[in-house]
Amino acid sequence: MDLAQLTRNLEALRARAVGAAAAAPDTAALDALEVGVLGKKGDLTAILRGIGALPAEDRPKVGAIANEVRTAVEAALHEARSGLGGAELAARLATEALDVTTPGRPIRRGSLHPIIETAREIAEVFAQFGFVVYEGPEIEDDRTNFQMLNIPPDHPARDLWDTLYLDVEGLLLRTHTSPGQIRVMHEERPPIRALLPGRCFRYEAVDASHASEFFQVEGLMVDEGTSMADLKGLLDQFAHAMFGAHRPTRFRPGYYPFTEPSVAFDILCVICDGEKCPACSRTGWMTILGAGMVHPVVLRYGGIDPERYQGFAFGMGVERIANLRHQVADLRLYMEDDLRFLGAFR
Ligand code: PHE
Repeated sequence: MDLAQLTRNLEALRARAVGAAAAAPDTAALDALEVGVLGKKGDLTAILRGIGALPAEDRPKVGAIANEVRTAVEAALHEARSGLGGAELAARLATEALDVTTPGRPIRRGSLHPIIETAREIAEVFAQFGFVVYEGPEIEDDRTNFQMLNIPPDHPARDLWDTLYLDVEGLLLRTHTSPGQIRVMHEERPPIRALLPGRCFRYEAVDASHASEFFQVEGLMVDEGTSMADLKGLLDQFAHAMFGAHRPTRFRPGYYPFTEPSVAFDILCVICDGEKCPACSRTGWMTILGAGMVHPVVLRYGGIDPERYQGFAFGMGVERIANLRHQVADLRLYMEDDLRFLGAFR
C-alpha cells in the first residue's frame, strides 16, 4: 500500500466516523463508535498497521494525518455527546419527573395507653408528698395476698375477691395491690411512703363494667403519729389535683379486713355536681378509692411495732379514675388494644 492509498483510507475513515457521530441516536451508539474507530483494535489502528510497508520518509506524513483524523473524530464525538446528553437528560426529566410538592404519607405517632397515662399522673401527684413507687409481683402467694392482710383461709371476707388460683399450691394471681404493703414493710423501715401501681386479676363474669384484669394504685404510709387526719388531708390534695381545686370530698365508713377503721373516699359527682344523676347512681357522690388505718395485725405481719407506729393505706382502680375523665362506656375497651380507641386519647 502506498502513501496516496493510506491517505485516502484515512480521509475515508474520518468522513465516515464524523458522519456516524452526527447521526448517532444515543450516547451508547457514540460509545460503540469511539471504541470501533479509535480503540486499540479499532479501524484507525488497523489502517496504521500498513505504515510499516512505507518508505521511511513517508511515515511521519501518515502519522500527522492520522493525528488529524483522531482529533477530528474526537471533536465530532464530543459535540454529538453534548447534544445527545442534553436531550437524554431532558427525556429522563420528563419521564422520571417527581412532584416534590406532593404531601408525604403521614407517620402515626404513638401515645401512652390511657390507663398507664392515668397511673403515671396519680404517681406524680403522690410524688409531691414524698411517695416513692414500688412494684410487687403479679403472681402472689396466698399468705401475702390474704393471710398477712388479716384475711385467714375460709374467712368470709375472701368473697370480696374472686380469686384466680394457679396450678401451683399456694400461688395465685394477686386480686389487689395490697400485698405490696407487706412486701414494702419487709423491705423498708418507717417512715415509709410507698406507692404501688400494678395489674390485678379477678375471676369475673366479664361485661361492660367488670373486667378480669385491671389496674390498681396502692398507697402506704407508716410513721410515728400517723393519723386519719393525715390520710384525709393527703386524699383531699389528691382529689383536688386530679379533679379540680374546689371538688368537695367526703369519707364514708367502709370495711376492709386490713384497715381499721376503713373508709370509702368520695368526690362530688363530676357529671352532675351533686344534682344526683345516673352516673352517680343518683347519690350525688362517686367513690374513687378505699382506704383506712393499717390494722395493727397487718403492721405486725410487716415486722412493724404497732405500739410505736401507725399507718394508713389506700387503693384505687385506675380504670375508674380514668373513666371519671374520659367517660368510657365499656371497660373492655381498655384491654382490647384497638388503635382506633387508643388513638382517641392523644
Ligand atoms: N385492696 C382494696 C381493694 O382491692 C383497696 C384498699 C387498699 C382498701 C388499701 C383499703 C386500703 O378493694
